[in-house]
Amino acid sequence: MDDRATVNHESMLEEVLEGLQQQQKELPSKLFYDEKGSELFEQITYLDEYYLTRTERSILQENIVEIGEQVGPKSLLIELGSGSSSKTRLLFEKLSSVAAYVPVDISEEYLLKVVNNLRMEYPRISIIPVFADYTSEFDLPNLGDSYQKQLVFFPGSTIGNFRPAEARSFFATVCSVTDADSAMLIGVDLKKDKTIIEKAYNDEQGITAAFNKNILVRLNRELGTDFDIDAFKHDAFYNEECGRVEMHLVSQQEQTVTIAGEQIYFKEGESIHTENSYKYSLRDFEELVSQWYSVEQVWTDNNNYFSIQYLERK
Ligand code: AVJ
Repeated sequence: MDDRATVNHESMLEEVLEGLQQQQKELPSKLFYDEKGSELFEQITYLDEYYLTRTERSILQENIVEIGEQVGPKSLLIELGSGSSSKTRLLFEKLSSVAAYVPVDISEEYLLKVVNNLRMEYPRISIIPVFADYTSEFDLPNLGDSYQKQLVFFPGSTIGNFRPAEARSFFATVCSVTDADSAMLIGVDLKKDKTIIEKAYNDEQGITAAFNKNILVRLNRELGTDFDIDAFKHDAFYNEECGRVEMHLVSQQEQTVTIAGEQIYFKEGESIHTENSYKYSLRDFEELVSQWYSVEQVWTDNNNYFSIQYLERK
């Protein structure tokens, strides 16, 4: 194990322990995305119930000319949480020119795999992967004046994973590591009928359940915990008051889990809160970013399920 991995595991252990010692136990949702989790998430994006990805893609496709006009030429495309980079391909093909592509992702193995494929598909675009957790300060490569404008691409409504206060500190961090005139193209899932939202997080094939439980598989493997995976059940529901989907893993029995010598006790029915997925109204979102960005343009689908928003620094 190299030094960086050691450090990562130490901070991971700290975060995990802290979360599991809360009254309402919780785990950071970024831990979903090990190699297996990234693959499971990709499978989720193809599910009938999961309207987000295909809706976002069709908004991008239908408005790509206008989006390209907003972005302008020679942009430096910085994608946060790039995953499979599947929407980026659309931008590559339709933006008038891309100076370089900087995918930033927390899953190193997955990032390198995707970058290898992209380099074969787009040999003329310079691709500079950054392996980082963008929820805290991260370094971007210095590319001098090879580009006109930085465009931070943050699709998929990943912003929904953050509580409002966390979202604000995310915007502050992004502003601190990018140029003063950078722009952002962000995908934001919108408020809608609760049954549609809840179906998206409770698919019939159980892929979302496997995605949720994989976080425990990962902890067992990487931190040597002894979670009995089958003794936890996937639960996802829309919390109307907070405007968010919550995912939980519910203990099916009274049990104790050992983690770095500490005993974590579960009552029957007690849960670990593993994810929030906030849904916004256009007004709420504009308000959320208002300290840093002005919303220049919003594109939505006919159902108003999802939005892509072009933000400029204030
Ligand atoms: C990648 C954070 C946008 O919240 O919809 C999918 C993750 N969780 N199914 C979301 C997720 C359960 C997804 N985001």
